[in-house]
Amino acid sequence: MSVVVDVQQAVCIHRTVDSEVVALRGADLLVEEGELVALVGPSGSGKSTLMALLAGLLRPSAGQVHVLGRDVARATEREVLSHRSQDIGMLMQGPERNLLPYASVRANVELAQLAARAPRAVRHRRAAELLEAVGMEAASRRRAGTLSGGEQQRVALAAALATGPRLLLADEPTSQLDRENAAGIAQLLRTARDRWGTTVIVVTHDAELGEAMDRRLTMRDGRIGTEARSGEQYAVIGRDGTVQLPADLADRFPAGGRARVVRRPDHIELHPIAADRDERS
Ligand SMILES: Nc1ncnc2c1ncn2[C@@H]1O[C@H](COP(=O)(O)OP(=O)(O)O)[C@@H](O)[C@H]1O
Ligand SMILES: [Mg+2]
Repeated sequence: MSVVVDVQQAVCIHRTVDSEVVALRGADLLVEEGELVALVGPSGSGKSTLMALLAGLLRPSAGQVHVLGRDVARATEREVLSHRSQDIGMLMQGPERNLLPYASVRANVELAQLAARAPRAVRHRRAAELLEAVGMEAASRRRAGTLSGGEQQRVALAAALATGPRLLLADEPTSQLDRENAAGIAQLLRTARDRWGTTVIVVTHDAELGEAMDRRLTMRDGRIGTEARSGEQYAVIGRDGTVQLPADLADRFPAGGRARVVRRPDHIELHPIAADRDERS
């Protein structure tokens, strides 16, 4: 299995005229080929920023980002562009941002394949196949801008998968969909993995879509804190050895406080120390 995404200690700062927001503060992420990964976590925790970083839409302020063997921090604009058009399928947050509103549904799905230089017959066939898979074949000739948000999401996913990308990045792909259609999307992501070996990373608030993925990573404060897989919940140990405590322990371990670490043969214990009490051993 090869590594598709390798992010080490990524820091990402959004600068505006009058403020700086640290959206990622030392995020670590390792994803192997063919894995289906869900990124979950509260709004503002850095999920979309991490996705934009993986797509090469943003550069890290510090840290390392390797995607499909390419160093995103160092790649030229041109390299990033060719990478994105050929190897990466991307679905940005917000259904309307991914389609050309005046082009037909079918043209949108075919256009996505132009940059990857697919022959015409292949483009037609793929578009028809994918539109059927997302249940939008009957709307092939409609202008994308006339579709509902949910319909746009389905078409956008078809477009993102049209090149059979090695990596699919989908930010909230089911936010406008009802349960039945959302289940169809989860199924399609799995099919993409089985057919093309596509590695899938989705940001989602949809518990069912999350459950359908192999791994669920929870982001908090610009880092990945916990991971659930095969029914188990794990803390993620960062490159610098830090561990985020589960959010529900916040009242017992207040931020900035101290904890005594006791080493046991097969585990460690953390004992919170009240701020107003000095520890004596
Ligand atoms: N373009 C931007 N300019 C300034 N701040 C931003 C920008 N994009 C995101 N942020 C801020 O960065 C933080 C992380 O945002 P984001 O990655 O969108 O989180 P999520 O997708 O988990 O909701 C938030 O505090 C958000 O307000
Ligand atoms: Mg977001």
